Amino acid sequence: MNNLLALNWKMNKTPTEAKAWAEEVRSGLHQSYADLAVLAPALNLPTLAAELPSSVAFGAQDISEHESGAYTGEISGAMLKDVGARYAIVGHSERREYHGETDANVAAKAAQAQASSLTPIVCVGEGLDVRERGEHVAYTLAQLRGSLEGVGADVVVAYEPVWAIGTGKTATADDAEEMAAAIRELLSEFYAGQADSIRVLYGGSVKPENIAEICGKPSVNGALVGGASLKAADVLAMNEAL
Ligand code: G3P
Repeated sequence: MNNLLALNWKMNKTPTEAKAWAEEVRSGLHQSYADLAVLAPALNLPTLAAELPSSVAFGAQDISEHESGAYTGEISGAMLKDVGARYAIVGHSERREYHGETDANVAAKAAQAQASSLTPIVCVGEGLDVRERGEHVAYTLAQLRGSLEGVGADVVVAYEPVWAIGTGKTATADDAEEMAAAIRELLSEFYAGQADSIRVLYGGSVKPENIAEICGKPSVNGALVGGASLKAADVLAMNEAL
C-alpha cells in the first residue's frame, strides 16, 4: 500500500491562509508518490474541500465521541462527513495532555468516526521518562489496546513519541521500526486477517530530510507531520521523497 503522508496543521492557518496553501500544493503536485491527507482545524475544511485536488484527502484533528446533541463546542462526525472529510485524528498527545482524554475517550471517538464513515487516525506514544526506563513498547501497546477497544479495522495508527513532537528531536528510523513492528503484531491479534491493510505511521519532527529513511522501514507506512506540514514547499518535497 502507498505511504500515507498525513499533515496535522494543529491550530494554525486561517481559511485565507489555507486557500493559499492549497493553491500552492495543487500547482506543485505534479505526481503524488504518497496518499496525502490534510488534518486541519474544522473551520478550514470547507476551504480545503473547494481548493484541494480530489486526490488529496482531508479531515479534522478531533471529533466528538457523541453522535449529536447538547455538547457545546464539539463537532460531530456527521458534520465532518458533510463537508467531505475522510479522516479524523483521535487521541493526539496534545489532547490527552491538555484535555485529559483517556484511552476510553479515544476508543469512543474512534468508534464514532467509523460510525460516521470516517477513518480514525489513532495516536499513541510514550513520554521521555517511559523511554528512558526502557518501558516504551509495553506502555505504547497498552495505550493502543485501550484506544482500540470496540473499534473496527478501518483505522490508521500513528506512533508519536511525545518527546519527539515539536522538539526537532526525531526518533531514529530504527526506533520507529521497533515500535511499528510491535504495533503490527498487536494489530494482527486485534484484527485477525485484516491487519495487513492497516497503516502504521510515525510522527514526531518529521521533515523532508528524514522522511525517506523513516518511511522506508518495513513496518512504517507513512508519517503524521506537524510543523513541516505548514509550508507547501516542504509538503511537496516530502511527497517526492516518499
Ligand atoms: O500529529 C503530528 C505532530 O504531533 C508532530 O508534530 O511538529 O513534531 O512534526 P511535529
